[in-house]
Amino acid sequence: MGKFSVFGFFREQWTELPISTADVSDKSLVVVGANVGLGNEAAVHLAQLKPKSLLITCRDGAKCEQSKADMETRSGMTDIESWPLELSSFDSVCSFVNRFEAKGCTVDALIANAGVSTMKYTKTPDGYETTLQVNHLSTALLSILMLPHLVKTGTLENPSRLVIVSSEAHFLANKLEGADKWPGIIETLNDEAYCTSSVMRNRYHLSKLLEVMFIRELSSRLPTTTLVAVSAVNPGFCHSRLTREIESGPLFKFAVRTYKGLLARTTEMGSRTLVHAAIEPGERERHGHYLSSCEVAEESDYALSVEGKEVSKRLWHETLRILGDIDSRVHTIVSEHLIQEIA
Ligand SMILES: NC(=O)c1ccc[n+]([C@@H]2O[C@H](COP(=O)([O-])OP(=O)(O)OC[C@H]3O[C@@H](n4cnc5c(N)ncnc54)[C@H](OP(=O)(O)O)[C@@H]3O)[C@@H](O)[C@H]2O)c1
Repeated sequence: MGKFSVFGFFREQWTELPISTADVSDKSLVVVGANVGLGNEAAVHLAQLKPKSLLITCRDGAKCEQSKADMETRSGMTDIESWPLELSSFDSVCSFVNRFEAKGCTVDALIANAGVSTMKYTKTPDGYETTLQVNHLSTALLSILMLPHLVKTGTLENPSRLVIVSSEAHFLANKLEGADKWPGIIETLNDEAYCTSSVMRNRYHLSKLLEVMFIRELSSRLPTTTLVAVSAVNPGFCHSRLTREIESGPLFKFAVRTYKGLLARTTEMGSRTLVHAAIEPGERERHGHYLSSCEVAEESDYALSVEGKEVSKRLWHETLRILGDIDSRVHTIVSEHLIQEIA
């Protein structure tokens, strides 16, 4: 699979994707954001394969209960765990990991699927622009805090998996022009004065680029004999509730529904890309890559450019600094599990 092109996009949208049938009877699987959409369909697929355990997360207790009941009915699996996890709160991420550790849970594959798309500038209680925190910072925090658990279950023959659900929308992310002069990239991206309506129109795309960059930086710091294979997955353009905000206006609703009617994959079809990355063999070839239609694909020109690589490196360091202040385990995990850079 090569670089993004409009023709390639159309072709991919209509391509039938493989359904995973891998044996997961000894695997513990975690899917984040599983009450609706791609996460829900991916979790149902996984549950139907009867894994050793399946833990799904939803934002609150009520959604957890409902999703667990629905998923058990649809899949026939009877002991799905469903825990709350709200990514607009760092406390919620840390509490989730604390509970995971207190219960002595294990994980062979973590699908970090939850994401939000909004053009409105709103701040989380932690003081970050919502998309920036939900799609990037909290997803990164969860990934780092869960890394030791993934390392623990991974083997050389069968590495565990971290799958972050990104998007081809990362190709549409604006270049961070002038970032070399910004004292902090994340600080600027979070600044309300910087976040004009045109910046916010591109925020979702940018957040998906940050995820691609995060996976690249993380993989470059994992040992070559890594016990954890990481990837950024593009599920393609799919039917889901992601466009709920844009569809709140009648004109956009009509436009989005028409566009979806012509092109969108079903949610189930899109979810196959998440499941594939999480359980199918070939994880070493996919490690560190952006995947589209279950294959390694090229990242955007900007992500691959000298400027993009510089931004990516700075973002990694800034992100880790922020996350380290939120939870000191981040420092320990980085020093124990990632290759240290020579200053
Ligand atoms: N659909 C597409 O065309 C498409 C294309 C490329 C990539 N993606 C990516 O696929 C992933 C899943 O999206 P989807 O299309 O399935 O959209 P969706 O139907 O809106 O599902 C998003 C999931 O994320 C959860 N979520 C949102 N904000 C959250 C928060 N603050 N804390 C915890 N969970 C939160 C949602 O929970 P609630 O229901 O409670 O809000 C829901 O479970 C996203 O990362 C998205 O960027 C989607």
